[in-house]
Amino acid sequence: MMTEKAPPPRIAPVFREDVRVAFDGESATLTSPVTSFTLRPVRGGIRTALVRLTEGPAPMDELFDGLLPAEQVQVQRFLDRAGHLLAHSVLSRDEGPKRRELVRLEAVARDGEHRLAPLGPDTTVRLSRFAFCRSRGGALVLESPLVKYRAVLVDGAARDLVAELGAPATVARLAQTVALGGDEVLDVLGHLAGAGFVEPADADGAFVSDSDPTLRQWDFHDLLFHSRIRSGRYDELFGAVYPYRGEIEPQPAVKPVPDGPVTELYRPTLEEIESRDPLLTTALETRRSIRSYGERELTVAELGEFLYRVARVRAHFTPGEGSDRDEVVSRPYPSGGQGYELELYVTVRRCAGLAAGIYYYDPVAHRLVLVNSDAVDRESLFHVASRATGMEARPDVLVTVTARFQRMSWKYRAIAYATTLRHTGVLYQTMYLVATALGLAPCGLGNGDADMSARVLGLDYLRESSVGDFLLGSRSPGDSVAGEPEEGWRLLNSPEWSLPADT
Ligand SMILES: Cc1cc2nc3c(=O)[nH]c(=O)nc-3n(C[C@H](O)[C@H](O)[C@H](O)COP(=O)(O)O)c2cc1C
Repeated sequence: MMTEKAPPPRIAPVFREDVRVAFDGESATLTSPVTSFTLRPVRGGIRTALVRLTEGPAPMDELFDGLLPAEQVQVQRFLDRAGHLLAHSVLSRDEGPKRRELVRLEAVARDGEHRLAPLGPDTTVRLSRFAFCRSRGGALVLESPLVKYRAVLVDGAARDLVAELGAPATVARLAQTVALGGDEVLDVLGHLAGAGFVEPADADGAFVSDSDPTLRQWDFHDLLFHSRIRSGRYDELFGAVYPYRGEIEPQPAVKPVPDGPVTELYRPTLEEIESRDPLLTTALETRRSIRSYGERELTVAELGEFLYRVARVRAHFTPGEGSDRDEVVSRPYPSGGQGYELELYVTVRRCAGLAAGIYYYDPVAHRLVLVNSDAVDRESLFHVASRATGMEARPDVLVTVTARFQRMSWKYRAIAYATTLRHTGVLYQTMYLVATALGLAPCGLGNGDADMSARVLGLDYLRESSVGDFLLGSRSPGDSVAGEPEEGWRLLNSPEWSLPADT
């Protein structure tokens, strides 16, 4: 039953599960996994209130009970300052020991504003398209990249209620399906809707996460990823915190080379490169994605020079005994924390001096190791790559970029995979520029089949799989000069400098 005029919902502050409170004389230190906060002097009413809060949710009237007005002000100030260490508990309407915690809202951002949405029995509600449940710290939690709170679904009936929210339903209808009083259903839904986990339907029966033009254009996983790889609305450990140090061995800076027949590659000298390379500006301004190739085959010397200039390991740092520094390497492209988790596999269709096959590029010895000579596997990789170009390109070589994920996640929390994708972009541009300087035809791709390539390359999807794909081939002499616009294009900000003749 929903009462006509319900009393205000029982909402109470409580310390978050991950907060520890230590009293020391007249001070109290509050510690969470990401922050620490010392309060002093802690005596009288404020001490009583703090102790009360460590025992569980305490509604404000109970927290203030017996406190002098000045002490109540102090407690309120503390609650305002320590908001990120506290949660809001929605309590059942029971009195005394029967009262239980239904849902706990924990802030995941410092500026979360908690409010109650005005719902009525006839309001139609549904879970936001961006909300999801998962197990965290032994509890079922509701999260959303749109919400600056995490809802811990403490009570079984609250969990049942959330499970009913996949399809639109009125509040009154939902109240019939769960073991909660009508006012309690309104309390829980009001808080979940106030936070943004639950959406009330608009006059047309639409839900904002489906109808808003901006939200519609966010994929669920993209928005979640965005919210977790930048600080702001994220309250967990973040960045280079070495979460597994002492528990799990880090991945080596250099991948152990797989077994297989070896092809030594050509190593250009710096003098050679300097004597024939175009200017950086020429390479930048003439760089283009090219999806058709010359009649002549790419040569193994060109491939060798390309790989040497893009991805070889050019130095290796091994920390001394007892040092807590990382084992790292240096390669021509930049890499966050010198992680260099990316590996290259080269699938060859047409290359003078090199048999068709799928090779691993050994960046230390600068050589190729044949890992798969099956023609069907090779064509499977090429087929997916060509499909990404609308079946336009039949390149000489496909470079598959894989990542050894645990090399990054051993060190970084939250940003490991995002950083890997950034590395992939950095590597793409390095490949584009070197290929352009060598007079080859480059093209980066936006998609590849990570499952299929893991099988074909003999990799474990979760340890190392593909994050990028790059086409390479000989360049047709008749190819139009890079940068020349096609029909329908208008030149803007294009310098009038003519490029040197060697382009
Ligand atoms: C990350 C990334 C993904 C790309 N994905 C594809 C792709 O899947 N298929 C394709 O034909 N070109 C792809 N390209 C090439 C772009 O289409 C190309 O860079 C863009 O049209 C601009 O042309 P330009 O490179 O010739 O300056 C990709 C480029 C990048 C950087």
